[in-house]
Amino acid sequence: MRPGLAVILVGEDPASQVYVRNKVNACAQAGFHSEKHAYPADIEPSAVFDKIAELNADPKIHGILVQLPLPRNFDTEALLDAIAPEKDVDGFRAENVGALVQGQPCFIPCTPYGAMKFFEEAGISLKGKEAVVVGRSNIVGKPMAMLLMHAGATVTVCHSQTRDLKAHCLRADILVAAIGRPKMITGDMIKPGAVVIDVGINRLPGDDGKSKLVGDVAYGEALGVAGAITPVPGGVGPMTITMLMKNTVTAACRAAGIEY
Ligand code: GUN
Repeated sequence: MRPGLAVILVGEDPASQVYVRNKVNACAQAGFHSEKHAYPADIEPSAVFDKIAELNADPKIHGILVQLPLPRNFDTEALLDAIAPEKDVDGFRAENVGALVQGQPCFIPCTPYGAMKFFEEAGISLKGKEAVVVGRSNIVGKPMAMLLMHAGATVTVCHSQTRDLKAHCLRADILVAAIGRPKMITGDMIKPGAVVIDVGINRLPGDDGKSKLVGDVAYGEALGVAGAITPVPGGVGPMTITMLMKNTVTAACRAAGIEY
């Protein structure tokens, strides 16, 4: 049995194109079956719904991922809910989100799952820790907060309306930056010794005229203060892809009736 992943991309967002390419390449490297279905931004949503119905019924495909964000004319929730629950390897369907809140998800969303794996592998206990998540997206902030809470951390979620972001961040033993703003978390906002997970992937013009990737954390400043910090690139990004592959293997094993 060969795990199979289908990735759907709508529109020409350059960041999404890179993410999708990395996901498909990772599948090829691991010997998975993978399919990319790319559509122009002005495609009729019904055509994408039809493709999802086709992939739901395809036994070669165990996981279906719709790269977000979608163009404005799409009903994102409705499209995600069209994915068969057993193939929702991103864990974004409403019922899976509910199950995650209850502590019994079918699939854990890949980026927060990668962060949790990192804590586990690094031997970082979360019990009783102050965790601050900056950002409240459905993809990262909300599921991250839920997982940290289930792991015993006391969780604060900060966002664009938070009054004193720095004061909150300075209390954090565990700080997760998932805002999407380059270098927004500066060194003076980090508690000495804190563990910092930088989820941001932002493209900035580099000195050599080429663009470079930076996170939501000012890495150089943070390095001198934090106890541990994930770099950008090379930190959370590869972990997200790894957990996507893991979820796809899980889906394939379940389809084959194999305990995993
Ligand atoms: N866009 C940004 N991150 C993600 C992700 O993890 N999954 C999907 N489907 N879209 C994204």
